[in-house]
Amino acid sequence: MAAILMDGNALRDEIIAGLRVTVEAAGSPPICLATVLVGNDGPSQRYVASKHKKALEAGLVARHVDLPDTATQGEVEAAVRELTEDVSVHGVLVQLPLPDGLDPEPVLDLIPPEKDVDGLTERSMGRLLRNRPGLVGCTPNGVMRLLEKYEVPTSGSRAVVIGRSTLVGLPLSLLLNRKGADATVTMAHSRTADMNAVVREADIVIGAAGQAGMITGDMIKPGAAVIDVGVSRTEAGIVGDVDRLSVEPVAGWLTPMPGGTGPMTIACLMENTLSAAQLQSAFPA
Ligand SMILES: NC(=O)c1ccc[n+]([C@@H]2O[C@H](COP(=O)([O-])OP(=O)(O)OC[C@H]3O[C@@H](n4cnc5c(N)ncnc54)[C@H](OP(=O)(O)O)[C@@H]3O)[C@@H](O)[C@H]2O)c1
Repeated sequence: MAAILMDGNALRDEIIAGLRVTVEAAGSPPICLATVLVGNDGPSQRYVASKHKKALEAGLVARHVDLPDTATQGEVEAAVRELTEDVSVHGVLVQLPLPDGLDPEPVLDLIPPEKDVDGLTERSMGRLLRNRPGLVGCTPNGVMRLLEKYEVPTSGSRAVVIGRSTLVGLPLSLLLNRKGADATVTMAHSRTADMNAVVREADIVIGAAGQAGMITGDMIKPGAAVIDVGVSRTEAGIVGDVDRLSVEPVAGWLTPMPGGTGPMTIACLMENTLSAAQLQSAFPA
């Protein structure tokens, strides 16, 4: 039997429609998501544009700061600092990657945890690690929401996350391992020995390596949930880490690429913006 496809577009639309109802019902002053883009990388420009479009659909307002790729570290930091200090801005997102020569760490760490809608700063990551309330990264959160929506059992399951970045693999491993989700998690990476054997043990497989088609059907335990986060741009279009053709007949659940985890990242960004406004007491909790 073919895998159940986990429709990220449908769940994103459901979440955004729900947010709009909540925002309109509250009748509060506008909730604002601010984005900062440095340089003119095409995919980054498209990501930011789609975030703004969905923010408006969710009943939020969006502000954007565009900086040239010649911007200095000081200029980028000044722009971010200004947004963090503006009480009419509730969430601040710096689109990554920054152009070569700019260090993202000090830029991100200017964002206070209550405005850190990407959940990427040192303090937000620390809260996640310490299991304290806070804003959690949108992509890892989006994966958890998909698992929940499609009732994929996590408790007692064995999960393998391929990738250990602070953006995706590491926070997602922590979320899967947390009380409540209760998976036993293996975090795999480029030095993992015998990846096939590691993946074959898993009830939940997350591909977050950015290696086109690296997860194939012969690696998958029958009935496992396979979540594709990796994005590779090829001549044939956008391709994930999962080789859908061979995996779909074996897996129990599968996210399509595109249309799986990407839309969920945006939906969770909008949720985080509303949560950020609540943390700043700008919206009823
Ligand atoms: N769907 C979405 O919404 C969404 C959101 C964000 C990112 N992404 C995509 O997700 C992917 C990961 O993003 P990222 O920011 O985490 O990337 P990253 O910082 O480059 O990290 C990639 C991770 O994958 C591991 N890796 C690379 N090649 C591997 C291989 N052959 N076998 C096993 N592990 C391997 C790396 O291992 P080492 O640590 O050993 O180098 C690293 O931990 C990218 O394709 C990105 O475009 C998608």
